[in-house]
Amino acid sequence: MKLANEQANETTNYRVWDKPSRLFHWINVLLVLSLVFVGLLMLFRRDLGITGLEAKIKLKELHVVIGYLFAANLLFRILWGFIGSHFARFANNIPSFSAIKGYKSALDRGENPQYIGHNPIGKLAVFVIMLTLTVMLVTGLFRAGTDIYYPPFGHAVAEYIAQDGVDASSIKPYDETGVDKQKLDEVKPYKSVAGQVHLYGAYFLLLLILFHVIAVIQAERKHQPGIISAMFSGIKRITGPTQDKE
Ligand code: HEM
Repeated sequence: MKLANEQANETTNYRVWDKPSRLFHWINVLLVLSLVFVGLLMLFRRDLGITGLEAKIKLKELHVVIGYLFAANLLFRILWGFIGSHFARFANNIPSFSAIKGYKSALDRGENPQYIGHNPIGKLAVFVIMLTLTVMLVTGLFRAGTDIYYPPFGHAVAEYIAQDGVDASSIKPYDETGVDKQKLDEVKPYKSVAGQVHLYGAYFLLLLILFHVIAVIQAERKHQPGIISAMFSGIKRITGPTQDKE
């Protein structure tokens, strides 16, 4: 391990992103893009000429199946945030507004502080992205349960809205056969709130993704060459002292 003042101007390769973090990142990119794509198909299906109840439900089922993969990947990353290597741990990535202020002042003074892990602005971005992904996960699973009675909450919802004596597994999405209308109406406001948060969460996430990509390209070109390749190789090549240590 090298400390900042020992490094002068030598160039060092630092192991930063471990394999599980990199795998999570790229699998997450693929799954989020797929979820956005199917989500947009669901939203604009009529304009695209996709009609009929069966097609509507099939699109939702496809979105939810991809959603489960997304959920498994995100839950793994959350676990890895507690047990993974140094830079993967949430405890080492807590955003700090005073650190952001310090980083921005250093940039304004024409300095170019280097970080092995995320720089202070990167830490804030990752925090907001992870939080938004978690909101999408929770509202998505809730919506899957209340909308098409899919796990993990679907069976409980179907049991709640089924008329007395009706088997919950016979309750079908968008079909009121065997459904207690009053109980269905009780569930609707919760379903609607989760749906709104999920929809606006998706738009917010798209903005975050755009901002993230622009910021990473900007940082790569202006301040921290090599940050993009590090998300493939796991290694950052840095010349001079670093603000953080391995
Ligand atoms: C980053 C992850 C996700 C994104 C970007 C995303 C995006 C979207 C979008 C754009 C819609 C259309 C909104 C609407 O119809 O009102 C939607 C709907 C839906 N999503 Fe997701 N989603 C994500 C994760 C999930 C997950 C993890 C699940 C569950 C496993 C899920 C389940 C659903 C369901 C059931 C709907 C249909 C809601 C309805 O038609 O009312 N989503 N999602």
